[in-house]
Amino acid sequence: MGEKRILCVGLVCLDIISVVDHYPAEDTDTRCLAQRWQRGGNASNTCTVLALLGAPCAFMGSLAPGNAAEFILSDFQRCRVDVTHLVWQSRGETPCACCLINCQSGSRTVTLYDTNLPDVTAADFEQVNLSQYKWIHWEGRNASEQVKMIQRVEEHNRTCPAAERVATSVEVEKPRPELYQLFGYGDVVFVSKDVAKDWGFHSAPEAVKGLRRHLKPGATLICAWAEAGAEAMGPDGLLVHSDAFSPDAVVDTLGAGDTFNAAVILALSRGRPLPEALTCGCQVAGRKCGVHGYDGIV
Ligand code: ADP
Ligand code: FRU
Repeated sequence: MGEKRILCVGLVCLDIISVVDHYPAEDTDTRCLAQRWQRGGNASNTCTVLALLGAPCAFMGSLAPGNAAEFILSDFQRCRVDVTHLVWQSRGETPCACCLINCQSGSRTVTLYDTNLPDVTAADFEQVNLSQYKWIHWEGRNASEQVKMIQRVEEHNRTCPAAERVATSVEVEKPRPELYQLFGYGDVVFVSKDVAKDWGFHSAPEAVKGLRRHLKPGATLICAWAEAGAEAMGPDGLLVHSDAFSPDAVVDTLGAGDTFNAAVILALSRGRPLPEALTCGCQVAGRKCGVHGYDGIV
């Protein structure tokens, strides 16, 4: 049997990207340098990078039938991401994001319409055959349902041989209190700079030290912090750091965090130690910041 798959549960959306050489002033009418459609959403982007890195992976999330969904579906197929667990919703729209990328600085400014499509539920997740996966990653969204999904995996892990256990990770990226219950779940927890700041921390080391007490025993906390690289703390309580790897020019940081998560998850899922996984995350994310989109990161 080949390598078991990694499943990512969360958002897929259509990113409508305009590349500009300076951020436009409000109520002006300017030209952009380039425009493209790109499949987006954190969990979906993480799948893109996992697939590019050669990891068999699958996506689970919601879509509503229509043009955006058709584009998204064919792009998943192009990237060799398994879509068996896509959930087609009969109400709501496929989320779309308007993304302005300033190619001088690489900054990304996103406005996402993501309000009326139901998220996948614990009942949907019941359909997933856990024995196909070695790792399941949740992008924090409908946290109470996601907790039930993780509990199902924990129950599976209690009753199966050690070699068949499924590792879990969660990403707490948006500063929304509902998501903070997810800190207590997942073998690995990714926390963003925005959430760290929301808790009053000013750096990744501070955040990792301060938030660790909210994790379940034995879990690992990881915090990426743009140009400052990333920090982590595993069950041994040692602080681990990786510098960022800056490309010659930062042109596009859209999805840098999702790329970082993918590379870290893949390294850990293959048994690499935490410092190596963190460095790997920063290296791949750094390469991503130097290219438009994801092609060329490997
Ligand atoms: P997000 O996309 O969620 O805002 P971050 O900005 O925290 O993610 O970045 C994630 C990782 O991407 C960082 O740990 C770093 O390794 C890399 N990265 C982000 N911005 C840059 C940059 N300007 N230069 C080099 N690496 C970067
Ligand atoms: C990048 C991203 C984009 C999407 C937005 C949603 O991390 O997933 O692809 O438009 O964030 O918040």
